[in-house]
Amino acid sequence: MRVLVAGATGVVGHPLVGALRARGHEVSALVREESRAPEEADRVVVADALDREAVLAAVAAARPEVVVHQLSALRLLRDDPPEAFARTARLRTEGTAHLVEAARAAGARRLVAQSVAFAAAPAGPRVLDEDAPLYLDAPDPGWAATVRAVAELERRVTDGDLEGVVLRYGTLYGPGTAYARDGGTGQRVLAGKFPLPEGGAGITSFLHVEDAVGAAVAAVESEATGRFHVTDDEPAPAAQWLPHYARALGAPPPRTIPAALAPRLFGWFMAHQLTTARGAANDRARTTLGWKPRRPSWRDRLGRE
Ligand SMILES: NC(=O)c1ccc[n+]([C@@H]2O[C@H](COP(=O)([O-])OP(=O)(O)OC[C@H]3O[C@@H](n4cnc5c(N)ncnc54)[C@H](OP(=O)(O)O)[C@@H]3O)[C@@H](O)[C@H]2O)c1
Repeated sequence: MRVLVAGATGVVGHPLVGALRARGHEVSALVREESRAPEEADRVVVADALDREAVLAAVAAARPEVVVHQLSALRLLRDDPPEAFARTARLRTEGTAHLVEAARAAGARRLVAQSVAFAAAPAGPRVLDEDAPLYLDAPDPGWAATVRAVAELERRVTDGDLEGVVLRYGTLYGPGTAYARDGGTGQRVLAGKFPLPEGGAGITSFLHVEDAVGAAVAAVESEATGRFHVTDDEPAPAAQWLPHYARALGAPPPRTIPAALAPRLFGWFMAHQLTTARGAANDRARTTLGWKPRRPSWRDRLGRE
């Protein structure tokens, strides 16, 4: 198939280009700077995703049957979190609108887009499925805005006349991510600056980057549509994964702090993740998408690469 990958220089997008090629697909990489395009791509098209005309022209030139949306600006999280969230929200709203319009105009059949598995409201069981309500009324205005942008991306991808697939990735770990040894979270844990809020009851569903790539390949090749949690099989409370992660990194054991101090220390979202967040069940991706994680538990590799 002819597949276009938007975000082809990213932590997921770059290896995805090679993985799709290895499956025999003809892959176009949509990038902002030609010089950074992955060598494995059959074709390179250049556009800023926020520039509608440029996106229309780039996608038309690639004539894809399937468009894959792996755009985010979360790489900026380490240096400038407000900008990372604001720009990612624009990529989720405007960027998605441009890609949907361009995909339709170019005659594409299918659209596969990256979303997140940790935008649900923290109510009900400890692990939620895809039908759980999103946290649109989160008390933090920044997170509420992020969740609104996630909801808009998901609506734009699944409501139109394209076959739409939303891959709600869990918390990514592995090379190039925040949880890698040299990533923002890894460095903070190594420095002993990532304490455990008392109880540590917030649940995280992790996902190794290789599994994010594998799920995107499965979604390109499947005929299934809809929203899918793409997460490992072991949603875990912070009280479990954080000490394990610190040990695997060779970091000091995290000290415990009163939960009420967590928002000031971590910012609202990370405090929520560590104290009240729910996990995400991957049953639908297994049964409908035919995908399962090759790394079913974070225990093997988290903190080791
Ligand atoms: N589920 C999760 O936990 C989760 C989800 C997403 C991301 N993250 C974190 O975010 C980091 C990155 O992961 P990722 O793969 O989503 O993102 P990424 O590696 O930053 O890749 C994002 C892609 O979007 C492209 N892009 C950004 N703005 C663009 C624009 N205006 N026009 C065209 N392309 C644009 C980037 O291109 P350029 O190279 O030109 O910037 C890059 O190819 C990791 O550290 C990961 O841990 C976590």
